[in-house]
Amino acid sequence: MCGIVGYVGPKEAKDVVVEGLKKLEYRGYDSSGIAYFQDHSIEVIKTKGKIIELEKKLVGQRTCGKLAIGHTRWATHGRPTDVNAHPHRTPRVALVHNGIIENHAELKQELIKKGYEFVSETDTEVLAVLIHSKLDEGLTPMQAVQKSLAAVEGAFALAIIIKGAEDQLFIAKNLNPLIIGLGKDEMLVASDISAIIRHTNRFIILEDNEMGVVSNSGCTITDFSGKKITKEVKETSWNPTLAEKEGYKHFMKKEIFEQPRALADTLSDIVDNERFRINLRDFPLAKEEIQNISRIVIVACGTSYHAGLVGKFFIENLCGLHTEVDLASEFRYRNPIIDKHTVMLLISQSGETIDTIGALMEARARGAKIVSICNVRESTIDRKSDYTIFTDAGPEIGVASTKAFTAQLMCLAAIALFLRQEINGKDHHMTTKYVEELLKIPGAINQILGNDSAIQEIAREFFNYRDFLYLGRGNNFPIALEGALKLKEISYIHAEGYAAGEMKHGPIALIDEEMPVVVIAPRDRYYQKTLSNLEEVKSREGIIISLGTERDEKLMSLSKAYMSVPPIDELFYPLLTVVPLQLLAYYIADFRGTDIDQPRNLAKSVTVE
Ligand code: F6R
Repeated sequence: MCGIVGYVGPKEAKDVVVEGLKKLEYRGYDSSGIAYFQDHSIEVIKTKGKIIELEKKLVGQRTCGKLAIGHTRWATHGRPTDVNAHPHRTPRVALVHNGIIENHAELKQELIKKGYEFVSETDTEVLAVLIHSKLDEGLTPMQAVQKSLAAVEGAFALAIIIKGAEDQLFIAKNLNPLIIGLGKDEMLVASDISAIIRHTNRFIILEDNEMGVVSNSGCTITDFSGKKITKEVKETSWNPTLAEKEGYKHFMKKEIFEQPRALADTLSDIVDNERFRINLRDFPLAKEEIQNISRIVIVACGTSYHAGLVGKFFIENLCGLHTEVDLASEFRYRNPIIDKHTVMLLISQSGETIDTIGALMEARARGAKIVSICNVRESTIDRKSDYTIFTDAGPEIGVASTKAFTAQLMCLAAIALFLRQEINGKDHHMTTKYVEELLKIPGAINQILGNDSAIQEIAREFFNYRDFLYLGRGNNFPIALEGALKLKEISYIHAEGYAAGEMKHGPIALIDEEMPVVVIAPRDRYYQKTLSNLEEVKSREGIIISLGTERDEKLMSLSKAYMSVPPIDELFYPLLTVVPLQLLAYYIADFRGTDIDQPRNLAKSVTVE
């Protein structure tokens, strides 16, 4: 949440920073701003609203030279206004911040007593004023930053510019991510890689309690007391075009259509194509340890949590291991029962979700082995885990997660099959059969995507309704939750996901002729039962949009609208059934004219609690 960009180099710094901010806009977009030096004074230009508003304000501004910092905000402390937008400044200091300064109130009181004034409602401004106060005491810029960092509590990624050190960017990190991009005669600082891949694929990751001074000739990294730290330079294989829309109206649509590729790539890393086995190289548990696993605890947030709920079906069905699924924000404060035979399985697209990181730390302290499914290499969750299985989805820019979700399901299926191989090595032919089914999935999704105009027509018919219900059973109950989440987050229509069998215990009271009910009913072991639930809806005048397997005449005859997926092993239907629901949500939102890639109040990477 919140995106930070900094640049030092020969190009027009404010252009590079604004272009980087646009790539980070998915992290937060309620206000943005930029700071740089002009005639040895700090110039700050900032505004409420999206980066396009900032660009309007920058038209006609003089060139700024070689150094600038910028920020795109997701408000925590203080409303999204011009004044609360970052950078925050004093006459001598300007800074951008991602995170929360927890002791801002006490620090502010002390500074007010000393005669300093504040203009915003934010926690961040206190740090700018604090650094300024240290400069007033006669400290050098570096000392002023160090002393100030020693006084603050909380989470932060920071980029700071200071009058008198006009060719240097000061940076620091605790809990919120920050990387340094190493270009040719230029250096960049950013919250994540998507802001810098146009300029360089070489980068350094700042760890907690590290700070740095960056200039166009290089960077020096130290701890907060000034002790030098040698850092490894990493390289990313992400290609800059993956972060472009490439002709699609929205990133979300592009990402929905990228799913066959994303899943094929994810599989190619983990399937041994000759032997039809799952190959998780260097998995941290030996065969005997796997055989001694007492429990798998899956922890995640939002859409990744829904993937976890499906993962429980995969693991329990394929390897008979007791599996629990928990929301990261609940798990970490719940005194969870974890021992050294527990494997914790974390799922996160970004690898930076603060609640999921908190859960990881909690489980680690209790001795669990930590295995993660993650889309971003070198993210915090990847680095803190014992083992990471990567979704090869490429950068996901649309705020509503789509390709990362199906890629997570693919990894979960692969983990379940791998554990099955290790626990019960003998039934090789069954593993082969399941692997063959997984290999069919990219093609099956292509088939579903080929039918998107039919789903667009359904969206055209229903986009004006106010409430939707989504029903599913078994492994498609999480898909009902996910379908409802996709619809509400991008179209702002109220939508609920329910286990179809729970209808009669309450939600059936909601059914009337104004309520579209999306029923997920592929031909699986739950099919007949789901049909009965569908009949209950129909007899109360509910409008049925059904989702079945290929041409299901029975389902079609009961429904106002019908969508379908090709047949597959019933365990893996969620990898297919979610796709028409992503398209339905997308087209409904498109007809309503909402801001699909950047829905209100949301941010892609949730780095605050
Ligand atoms: C919804 C969505 C969110 C994320 C959640 C966890 O479309 O994207 O619900 O799934 O914020 O994020 P990650 O997976 O990055 O930990």
